[in-house]
Amino acid sequence: MLRSVGSPSAVAGASRSFAFSSAAPERKVAILGAAGGIGQPLALLMKLNPLVSRLSLYDIAGTSGVAADVSHINPPAQVAGFVGEDQLGEALKDADVVIIPAGVPRKPGMTRDDLFNINAGIVNSLCTAIAKHCPHALVNMISNPVNSTVSIAAKVFKKAGTYDEKKLFGVTTLDLVRAKTFYAGKTGLPVSDVNVPVVGGHAGITILPLFSQRTQDGGTEVVEAKAGKGSATLSIAYAGAVFADACLKGLNGAPDIVECTLVQSSITELPFFASKVKLGRNGVEEVLELGSLSEYEKQGNLRGSMQFCICVQIHRLYGVCQS
Ligand code: NAD
Ligand code: LMR
Repeated sequence: MLRSVGSPSAVAGASRSFAFSSAAPERKVAILGAAGGIGQPLALLMKLNPLVSRLSLYDIAGTSGVAADVSHINPPAQVAGFVGEDQLGEALKDADVVIIPAGVPRKPGMTRDDLFNINAGIVNSLCTAIAKHCPHALVNMISNPVNSTVSIAAKVFKKAGTYDEKKLFGVTTLDLVRAKTFYAGKTGLPVSDVNVPVVGGHAGITILPLFSQRTQDGGTEVVEAKAGKGSATLSIAYAGAVFADACLKGLNGAPDIVECTLVQSSITELPFFASKVKLGRNGVEEVLELGSLSEYEKQGNLRGSMQFCICVQIHRLYGVCQS
């Protein structure tokens, strides 16, 4: 273990928006892929979260510097870095929430599915370790293609006998973050007054509703702007931190915590579908219905469903959804 300890001084003002209670129970959060483009800012944001008492940063390389760096800021969470498979078990031990941004990002011209072969193997081995070392943790899957990596995680947990559908989430929060920003920008409304549920999945036309084509193409916009140097990192670090905060609040018993996320559900024929989910002490408390859709959204729903039908076929054939 590459140890670094945070100072026990007062929580920084910047973290206040994440807080809901000063008497929060001890919570350990582990980030797998913590030295990467997402992992580093996400580690920073989780260190700012007053609901986190221990922050475990794991990667195959580079966590020593990240852990030392992040540990110097003032919020009280204890930070520890872990590197390599030998230290994975210790990194995961007693984790309440595990966030997974480990894996390769896409380059211009690639789809998220092009990442499947390499990221499937990474997610498979990390989830095998989660099943062994912290089988009761909430798992927040960021690695792409999220529509598939969530299915892989479910498969690994089922094989290990630890699968709990209430505790596995595909992080689609970035789609909501984008939808809010774009909608507020278009209408001139303050972003704090905007709430746009985004359902479906996290790839192209599976991102619904279609009020804004830009929300669906937001990832590609960033990939092209970065011109081969990766995909979104800062905005997804923010989105991942928002979603992990909601998970922690739910675990701690805060009322009315609702987020859109990709979970196992029966609200469509698909095994996994992103929709509004109420979070509680055991993870998913309730998967909420889609509610009424506009004609335009229904059209989008049809197109998205067609792609998802293909996905279901693949799921039936191979046990994972490659869409
Ligand atoms: P990156 O290459 O900058 O970082 C990935 C990190 O994962 C690296 O530090 C690498 O060492 C680490 N890693 C690789 N194999 C590992 C293993 N077996 N165990 C632990 N760590 C391992 O990539 P990034 O920009 O941080 O993106 C990571 C993933 O997140 C990509 O798949 C990307 O497509 C995805 N992503 C998802 C969303 C979303 O909204 N869900 C948004 C942006 C990016
Ligand atoms: C995003 O939506 O930004 C991520 O899924 C990364 C990508 O490849 O688009």
